[in-house]
Amino acid sequence: MKRAAIYPGSFDPVTNGHLDIIERARHLFDEIIVAVSENPSKRPYFSLPERLRFLHQAVGARPGVRVEAFSGLLTDYVKKKKAVAVIRGLRAVSDFEYEFQMALMNRRQNNRFETVFLMPDEKYTYLSSSLVREVSRLGGRVRGLVPTGVEKALQQRAQDHA
Ligand code: PNS
Repeated sequence: MKRAAIYPGSFDPVTNGHLDIIERARHLFDEIIVAVSENPSKRPYFSLPERLRFLHQAVGARPGVRVEAFSGLLTDYVKKKKAVAVIRGLRAVSDFEYEFQMALMNRRQNNRFETVFLMPDEKYTYLSSSLVREVSRLGGRVRGLVPTGVEKALQQRAQDHA
């Protein structure tokens, strides 16, 4: 039986740090389902279709990687997909508290899967979607931090709002 893992997130937008985590997870599981949270309460910078498109462009062709949207409880989605694990990236100690809370709350809902934390390459330790959005919105450079399609979309968005 295939061992699938869910990699959930807002991916607003996907960064090269996320791609690094997907690549690492690919070596551990038969299938990685990159699950993009609809998250309307967070008022995302990019719409769900845009976030899905960026991910499809970046990893859609990679064997063993699937990109999907999800809404509702993550643990229900994990159950539906019969996944054995949830993947989360840990960049620094500052990520830990929130991640620890989420992992234990998720375990309380459904203890039939594990949360697996993976560390991205150290060159991405400081990288986050929110910083990328802010830097780009203010006219800064994000080349090398995000896939090319995302870089173009960020530039376009910054121009539209200038
Ligand atoms: O990239 P993010 O914003 O850190 O991802 C957070 C995400 C989407 C994984 C988290 O908010 C989530 O799982 N949302 C789905 C709703 C849910 O299950 N909430 C309870 C979490 S304990």
